[in-house]
Amino acid sequence: MPPPFTAAVLHLLLLLPIAAGQRFRGFSYLLDCGAENATTDSRGLRWDPDGPYVSAGSSSALHVEGLLDPTLATLRSFPRKPGAKFCYALPVDPNRRYLVRPTFFYGTSSPRPPAFDLIVDGTFWTAVDTADDSLAGSASHYEAVFPARGRNLTFCLGVNANYTDAGPFINALQVIQLDDTVYNSTDFKTSAMGLIARTKFGSTGDVERYPDDSFDRYWQPFPDSKHAVSSTHNVTSADFWNLPPPDVFNTALVAEQNAPLVLQWPPIPLQNDSYYVALYFADTLDDSSRIFDVNINDYRFVKDLTVTSAGHSVFATQWILSGLTRVIVTSKSVLPPLINAGEVFGLFPIGRLTITRDGK
Ligand SMILES: *[C@@H]1O[C@H](CO)[C@@H](O)[C@H](O)[C@H]1NC(C)=O
Ligand SMILES: *[C@@H]1O[C@H](CO)[C@@H](O)[C@H](O)[C@H]1NC(C)=O
Ligand SMILES: *[C@@H]1O[C@H](CO)[C@@H](O)[C@H](O)[C@H]1NC(C)=O
Ligand SMILES: *[C@@H]1O[C@H](CO)[C@@H](O)[C@H](O)[C@H]1NC(C)=O
Ligand SMILES: *[C@@H]1O[C@H](CO)[C@@H](O)[C@H](O)[C@H]1NC(C)=O
Ligand SMILES: *[C@@H]1O[C@H](CO)[C@@H](O)[C@H](O)[C@H]1NC(C)=O
Repeated sequence: MPPPFTAAVLHLLLLLPIAAGQRFRGFSYLLDCGAENATTDSRGLRWDPDGPYVSAGSSSALHVEGLLDPTLATLRSFPRKPGAKFCYALPVDPNRRYLVRPTFFYGTSSPRPPAFDLIVDGTFWTAVDTADDSLAGSASHYEAVFPARGRNLTFCLGVNANYTDAGPFINALQVIQLDDTVYNSTDFKTSAMGLIARTKFGSTGDVERYPDDSFDRYWQPFPDSKHAVSSTHNVTSADFWNLPPPDVFNTALVAEQNAPLVLQWPPIPLQNDSYYVALYFADTLDDSSRIFDVNINDYRFVKDLTVTSAGHSVFATQWILSGLTRVIVTSKSVLPPLINAGEVFGLFPIGRLTITRDGK
């Protein structure tokens, strides 16, 4: 029998690589807003208190039973000063782009959670309204990709007197540096990207995240029992500039023989505008390939795309969408069409002005 300390040493050895494995490249922040101490979540990610990066607001704890996500247990709230904005300043590399994901969870649906604006480096991003999620008992995530515009990235919550009569709040903030090839077809000198949908087709499981996705992007499941297929292929995601996590290729939607695959996706209607659309494909059979045409609504997105088990992605940097979107994949080969994953982002101009002022 080994001496008792061996087990402890083994434990340390096993645990260390997990802790050290949280290595987002470059500058990255996982902030647990309003928290006093760091906390580690179930996937081994360490969340730090937000205090060093923000000077305004006050902390409070939520008293909600059975929270799965420990970062939801505290929040930072700001006063309702009409027109004020309250900012986080995070040192970044001025030559890189960053995924920015705030999370909001008010804990109760009554009174109605406050609504407010988000502003990054002076650019208006979006209005936050968590009322529907709150009624459903879930947290609200917003996600965008912004280029750094200086040595600090400023993420601000803006009081907007038009919405509600309570101040802004925030539970968690992630700012994660992306590799230079990720979304590199977007001109980040003029545009930022706001996420609309990132989907793992055919998945019924949990959201696909870190560590499979090295930037902790969230790939939402999209169940469809009629067409879902799982496969266990070894797609090497480094072959894709956007670096999708290998596991998104473990599921797919596959049409019936001689029928096109028709998806209503993204699941929400869009306003008439330009969007970034990326679609990911990998043949579910080994040493096999298929040829597809992909249409989005009434327009040809790509023609004669050859998809092998090594995987392939196609994207459009500025594609006009309006209302509900239909993606239609037609096979021009013997095997039926399929799709594994997709992303849609809205594009918005950097420097879009705001009417709010700095508040302390
Ligand atoms: C934070 O850590 C300190 C020192 O370990 C401890 O005294 C305090 O109770 C902790 N605070 C919370 C909210 O857990
Ligand atoms: C950048 O942010 C850090 C941390 O919030 C702060 O200490 C520093 O003063 C900021 N620098 C500038 C130039 O704003
Ligand atoms: C409030 O709404 C009015 C009218 O729609 C608009 O002119 C004004 O800019 C809005 N204020 C803010 C802070 O968004
Ligand atoms: C994106 O990155 C890839 C890999 O480095 C490169 O081949 C490609 O030209 C880049 N695309 C753009 C638009 O910069
Ligand atoms: C997948 O491919 C990688 C790199 O080629 C290889 O190291 C790994 O063993 C493969 N895994 C499986 C399950 O085939
Ligand atoms: C969308 O906007 C463009 C130009 O702004 C216009 O030409 C087009 O007809 C609009 N499409 C729809 C469906 O409203």
